[in-house]
Amino acid sequence: MGTLDLGVLVSGNGSNLQAILDAIANGTLDARVRLVLSNRGDAFALERAKKAHVPTAVVSHKDHATREAFDEVLVEALRRHGAEWIVLAGFMRILTPVFLNAFRGRVLNIHPALLPSFPGVHAIRQALNHGVKITGCTVHWVEEGVDSGPIIAQRAVPIVAGDSEDSLAERMHRAEHELYVQALADLATGRVAPPREA
Ligand code: GRF
Repeated sequence: MGTLDLGVLVSGNGSNLQAILDAIANGTLDARVRLVLSNRGDAFALERAKKAHVPTAVVSHKDHATREAFDEVLVEALRRHGAEWIVLAGFMRILTPVFLNAFRGRVLNIHPALLPSFPGVHAIRQALNHGVKITGCTVHWVEEGVDSGPIIAQRAVPIVAGDSEDSLAERMHRAEHELYVQALADLATGRVAPPREA
């Protein structure tokens, strides 16, 4: 695939964004982050992007009457900055076909569970509450629907006695950072191919 031109969508802390920026800086990942786009002006991810001299934009979903109108603005900003591959990294909005058609087969997400188990926003808590002994994280292509789409890569994360949501989340994040960078590096080198519909 060659050097990937990435647009990274964030809403919060941005530790996965940081892992991607670090991997680019140390040569592990052949990519450029063209734009970090947040729907929240207070996302710490924006500070991380600025520190790495990466362009940022804030588009608040609250300023748009419909999800589709919001998505149109996102698409326009990402295209204008030259983003070709879209990396969802803690982005807390559901994308509509307006967005997904614009970047069909080029949108990746990471989820803190072994999909198709525990989709949605409480995946870590639900895995704990269910008493599962092994959970993990999943990188997948994004399709219409929450946390659905062909799976690209998964990494197991054990749940150990005495785990809290915080301790499990911390272990999960470490696994996510490695897995997301690996999946993107595999995309850049052609070991991962876009889904067939792309
Ligand atoms: C991660 O746990 C990811 O799986 C989920 O949102 C969280 C984002 O964390 N989709 P961060 O903002 O990258 O630190």
